[in-house]
Amino acid sequence: IAENDEEFYRPNYHFTPKNNWMNDPNGMFYLNGKYHLYFQHHPDDNVWGPMHWGHAISEDLINFEEQPIALYPDDIGLIFSGSAVVDYDNTSGFGEDGKVPVVAIFTYHNMDGEKSGDIDFQTQAIAYSLDEGTTWTKYADNPVISNPGIKDFRDPKVFWDNCNSKWIMSLAAGNKIMFYSSANLKEWKFESDFGELKGEHGGVWECPDLFPTKIDGEEDKKWVLLVSINPSGPNGGSATQYFIGDFDGSTFSLDSDFNKQLEKNKAVWLDYGRDNYAGVTWSNIPEDDGRNLFIGWMSNWDYARDVPTYKWRSTMTIPRKLSLVKEENEFVVKSKPVKELDNFISRKDEIEALTPKDFNLVQKKNHFDLTRSSLNFELTDLKDERYELNLSNNEGDTLKLGLDNMSKQIFLDRTKSGKLDFSEKFAPNVSVVQLDKSLSEVQIEVVLDKTSIEVFINNGEIVLTELFFPNSPMTNLSILSEDDNFQIADITIKEFSF
Ligand code: FRU
Repeated sequence: IAENDEEFYRPNYHFTPKNNWMNDPNGMFYLNGKYHLYFQHHPDDNVWGPMHWGHAISEDLINFEEQPIALYPDDIGLIFSGSAVVDYDNTSGFGEDGKVPVVAIFTYHNMDGEKSGDIDFQTQAIAYSLDEGTTWTKYADNPVISNPGIKDFRDPKVFWDNCNSKWIMSLAAGNKIMFYSSANLKEWKFESDFGELKGEHGGVWECPDLFPTKIDGEEDKKWVLLVSINPSGPNGGSATQYFIGDFDGSTFSLDSDFNKQLEKNKAVWLDYGRDNYAGVTWSNIPEDDGRNLFIGWMSNWDYARDVPTYKWRSTMTIPRKLSLVKEENEFVVKSKPVKELDNFISRKDEIEALTPKDFNLVQKKNHFDLTRSSLNFELTDLKDERYELNLSNNEGDTLKLGLDNMSKQIFLDRTKSGKLDFSEKFAPNVSVVQLDKSLSEVQIEVVLDKTSIEVFINNGEIVLTELFFPNSPMTNLSILSEDDNFQIADITIKEFSF
């Protein structure tokens, strides 16, 4: 595909709208074999504007088919971010003729109110669908939560709390999260708030998500609270932090061990890369699956409006499974690409051990299409040296992922990865993750598309997601180091077809 072709940068398997602007994922739910994904959408321009909810459906979590627009702005306001739930027990009373209602809970943003200098221009509202999320009716008595005088008051994420038999909403409110409860999704009661004194506060809190999950390998359950923040992410701009604690149906209280983690590091990040924002989990994943399925907006408010695609703008991350581990009294939310991606493997090479030189030859020999592939490997016997996975094309663009054991940093360097001049904020420096100690071994999974790299280190304990816009597709792969005694073990290279 020629560089001036609109499809040149269209990802091979990450979701993009057919036309125009997209930001946050919204209203994801699962019903009858279908994973629904709605999204912040401006259908008339390739930059942010009056927000609608776009819609897409997937039956396999990888191929998403775009649908007609689900929610349009109206007299009350624009349709900002929110969630959707399947109301199996018809608690809302919206159900008719035995049809199960799906209820969307979203923020109305009133432009006129904002322009006239009011601060209470964001309210929460609901809409319902009786045809599994295809068409929606807005509730006649919207808004269902009026604004208590808080300027940033948005992004309701609702779930059914099984222990307390009620709906719980987490809502971003300036520099904190507010929790509300409801029996019917229409009447909401304020329960408590969290976070004013915890975590990173260099920006506005947005898009919360509270969900329970088992600690891996233990019986104990904990609650994860995701909170997106913009700006002040670990490598600049937008990013998502999280908190681990307990929730009693009313109050979220931090786990004491997690609190200690926050004394060491101001915030704990779901992803250290610059392009995973406003991500939340799917509602109504069946119990026998039980996964926390997550998707994020693969961009950053620092430059989202400027990235060099025109017909459409913005991409979602690969859907991911989130899980909670506890090691040496520290909690980590791990992310892994969903296993469904493996259903699309069209070519695969598995090699037990290689020297760096042989590794470099593997790609020379096999020509895996690096715009639709993944790599999974381990590096062992590492010294206090620098190790680098290098992705490049024949135009001299390079993208480097590395471990610097001298400075104890993992880094992702897109500063020479191709087009950069569309925004000064895109690649002012190299993204880094500071480690406590140097690593003698490391396991790395890398998921590649035309313009994105998603890095999952040590089983997804450290994640970096970033975009890049090479002048021609990346074709070469190598591992470099001054240390020629390290080992590359258990390598799997997969190529996908969709
Ligand atoms: C996050 C966000 C949300 C808001 C939406 C507006 O990226 O700012 O807080 O609801 O985008 O499009």
